[in-house]
Amino acid sequence: ADKIIIAIDGHSSCGKSTIAKDLAKKLSLIYIDTGAMYRAVTLFALSRGVINDGVINVDKLQDSLSEIVVEFKRNSSTGELDTWLNGENVEKAIRTLEVSNNVSAISALKFVRERLVKLQQEMGQSGGVVLDGRDIGTVVFPNADIKLFMTASPEVRAQRRFDEMQSKGEDVSFEDVLSNVQNRDHIDSTRAESPLRKADDALVLDNSFMNREEQFDWVLEKLSERG
Ligand code: C5P
Repeated sequence: ADKIIIAIDGHSSCGKSTIAKDLAKKLSLIYIDTGAMYRAVTLFALSRGVINDGVINVDKLQDSLSEIVVEFKRNSSTGELDTWLNGENVEKAIRTLEVSNNVSAISALKFVRERLVKLQQEMGQSGGVVLDGRDIGTVVFPNADIKLFMTASPEVRAQRRFDEMQSKGEDVSFEDVLSNVQNRDHIDSTRAESPLRKADDALVLDNSFMNREEQFDWVLEKLSERG
């Protein structure tokens, strides 16, 4: 299983990264969080004044694209890979509602996707990886060994994200989280450039009524069926 490529796509906030991390641990794979890369570019754009009130200065972003260096580095205390932007650990900074509210517009840009997809393909090409995102099974690794498409009802997803943000002490309302989830689903599924869609050969996992263990067992069973 060391050269395996697992592709996980699906809607926002449906637990893709949780399953991806569980699989990475169990199967000794490297987890590549592609959403974190789009979030890092968004954080860069926000910090450079490239986005004003949700409006992107596309030319300015395109001009500075070559300055953006996104990396993953192992965090020695958590054991997980943290996201770094231009030499700075941004793992926490990329998870704010402000970044979430702007990331789908940034990730709809063709030149942003081309650059990040290439980076993702380089990171995963030798296998032994699990990637999560929106276009992994359709665009980044269309020949992945196994593809999952995850979903759950918007309310269930928003509730989980809301609980998570509250437990981290973030001051957000349920309504704001729900509308962010719905807006991202809409933009991600309707954009022209590699929209979110289920690959024909992806297995659908609706986890509205499943806990973490049940989902994990479900995926392991599917993997063993494939041999
Ligand atoms: O996975 P996460 O929710 O962190 O992704 C944030 C956003 O990044 C998504 O809503 C989507 O707009 C974008 N994204 C993407 N393609 C990917 C991963 C994420 O367009 N492969």
